[in-house]
Amino acid sequence: MYYPDELVEEVRAKNDIVDVISGYVRLQKKGSSYFGLCPFHNEKSPSFSVSRQKQMYYCFGCGAGGNVFTFLMEYENYSFLEALRFLADRAGVELPEQDYSQEARQRADIKAILLEINKEAAKYFYVQLKQPQGKHALTYLKDRELGDEALKSFGLGYSNKYSDDLYRYLKSKGYKDEHISQAGLITIDEKRGVCDKFWNRVMFPIMDVNSRVIGFGGRVMGDGKPKYLNSPETLVFDKSRNLYGLNRARTARKPYFLLCEGYMDVIALHQAGFTNAVASLGTSLTPGHAALIKRYVSEVYLTYDSDDAGTRAALRAVPILRDVGVTARIIRMEPYKDPDEFIKNLGAEAFEERIRKAQGGFMFSLKALEKDYDMASPEGKTEFLKEAAGRLVEFEEEIERNNYIEATAAAYRVSYEDLRKLVAGTAVKKGLAAPVKRPRPTQSQEREKEDGIRKSQKILLTWMAADEHIFRQICKIVGPEDFDEGLYRTVAELLYRQYEEGEPNPAAIMNHFTDEEEHREVAGLFHTRIRELSTAREQEKALRETVKRVKLHSIEKAMGRNTTSAEELQKLVAEKARLQNPAELHISVN
Ligand code: UTP
Ligand code: MN
Repeated sequence: MYYPDELVEEVRAKNDIVDVISGYVRLQKKGSSYFGLCPFHNEKSPSFSVSRQKQMYYCFGCGAGGNVFTFLMEYENYSFLEALRFLADRAGVELPEQDYSQEARQRADIKAILLEINKEAAKYFYVQLKQPQGKHALTYLKDRELGDEALKSFGLGYSNKYSDDLYRYLKSKGYKDEHISQAGLITIDEKRGVCDKFWNRVMFPIMDVNSRVIGFGGRVMGDGKPKYLNSPETLVFDKSRNLYGLNRARTARKPYFLLCEGYMDVIALHQAGFTNAVASLGTSLTPGHAALIKRYVSEVYLTYDSDDAGTRAALRAVPILRDVGVTARIIRMEPYKDPDEFIKNLGAEAFEERIRKAQGGFMFSLKALEKDYDMASPEGKTEFLKEAAGRLVEFEEEIERNNYIEATAAAYRVSYEDLRKLVAGTAVKKGLAAPVKRPRPTQSQEREKEDGIRKSQKILLTWMAADEHIFRQICKIVGPEDFDEGLYRTVAELLYRQYEEGEPNPAAIMNHFTDEEEHREVAGLFHTRIRELSTAREQEKALRETVKRVKLHSIEKAMGRNTTSAEELQKLVAEKARLQNPAELHISVN
C-alpha cells in the first residue's frame, strides 16, 4: 500500500457509508440498519443492508459486501487507489502528491476519458443504424432475426462507409487524437493519415459488469475477412477478464451460466429468454474468466460450437473451471453449428431439453474420444475401453470413481464388474496402489478437511467480532497466532488489537486489504448470521467445539514443524491434553 494506515482510515472515517451509498441506492431505515435493492444483483425485495454503526454494507442475497472503499470498487469498477482518491476529494482530505504519483493520477484520468469516448462512439454507431445510411445493416440484423428489444438492450450499431466520420465526430466533441487512438478507435498512418478502425460493419459494443462500454466487435455483413474485427486491448479493455453479456447475465437469477463462443450466440439466447448466457468472445477461456464466473455462479453449461474446434475448446475449459470450483456440463448443439442457429431452427423449448440432457465433463470427454476408435469392431471398442479405464483411474475418491465406472459401463453396454476389474488392473499396471485400498487420505479428503478448518476459523472470528463477552472468554484459549496465515490471521490480529484498545471497528480492518475478493470475504466475516441455535446450551456446545477444532489444528500444525524444540513439543502435548477436558473449554453465552 502506498499510504499510511492513518490516512486511509481518516478518509474512510470522513465518508459516512450511508451518505455515500445513498447517492447510488435508495435506502430505508429498518431497525439499526438501512435496507435497499442490491445494485449488484437483480432483486425485487431489499436484501442489501448498510450499517452506520459498522460502516459496512452486505447483501444477504448475493454476498456482496465491504466498506465504503469496496462499494466504489465494485460499483464504479475503481481500483483501491481510485476509490481512495475519490473519497479523499469528497471529504476534502488532501492526499500527499508524492504518494499518489502523477503517473497514477494520469492513468485514472485517462481511463475515465477512454470510457467516455467509448460511450460516445457506441451512441454514434447506435444512431447510424437507424439512419438511411444504416438501412442495409439494420436489414442484415433483422434477417438474422434480431428484434428491436435485443438491438436496444445490447446497443447494436453500425459504422459508416466513410473512413473517418467517427473520428471527426469525436473531435467535434473535443476529444484528443491521442485519447481516441488509445481507445482503439482509430489508426494513425503516416501516409493515409487518420482512419477509423471500424467501417461498414455491424457494431457490437462490449460492456463490463457495470454496463460501461469498454470495447467493440464489428462484423462484416457477408463473407469478408476478418469476419469480426475487435478493439485491441486498452487501459479499459482486458479481454481475459471480461465476458460478453455478463452485465445482464449476472442479474438473471439462475444458479448457472450458459457459456458460449460468440456475440450472436449470446444475443440469440437472451432473446429466447436465456438471459444467463455469456461469451468469452472467440478467445479461449482463461483462469481470469473462470474467477469472474465464480463470483456469480458455481455451475456452467458450455454451449460451444459443435465442430472440432468447439469440442476441443470445451475440453480445455472444463479443468480451468474446475480449478476455481465451478462444475461444467456440456450442451450438444448437433446437428447445428452453434446456439444461435440451434435456437433459430428448433426454438427455445428444444434448447431447454438440451440443457436438461447436458453431459458432465467426463462423459463428454469419452464421447470425444470415441472418434479415435473404430467403435463398431470388438478390437476397437476394447482399445477404447482400455483408454477409458486409464482415465477412470484418475478419480481418486472411490465413490466418485465407482459412480463414473457405473455410468461408463451403462453408456457403452459392458458389465459394471468387468469394467471395474479393468480399471483395477490398469491401476496396478500404472504402478498405482490398488485403487480399492488407500491408506493415505486422498487429496480431496485433505482439501475437505482444510475447508472445514477454515470454516471453523471463520465462524470463530464472526462470533468474536459480534460479541465482546464471547471474545473475552475465547481470547484466553485462542490467540491470533492460532489462525492460519493469510487473511484470517490478519483479521484476527487486528481484531484482538482493536478490542485491546477499545471497540472493534470492522470497517477499519478492511483498510488492510486492497483486493475486491478479500473485501467480500472480510465483509462476510462480519455479517454472517450465526446459525440460529435455539438454546444457550446448544450455542455453548457449538462454540466449545469450534474453539477446540481451531486450537487443535493449530497445535498439530506446530507439532509438525521441524523447528519445534523438544521443550515446546512437551508444552504442546500438555496443551492438547488439556483441550480434552471440558471444564477447560467452558464458555458462557450470557
Ligand atoms: P464464430 O466464427 O463462431 O462466429 O466465432 P459466430 O459467433 O457464430 O458469428 P456469426 O454467427 O457468424 O455472426 C465466435 C466468436 O469468435 C470471435 C467473435 O467474438 C465471434 O463471436 N471471432 C470470430 C473474432 O473475434 N474474429 C473473427 O474473425 C471470427
Ligand atoms: Mn453463429
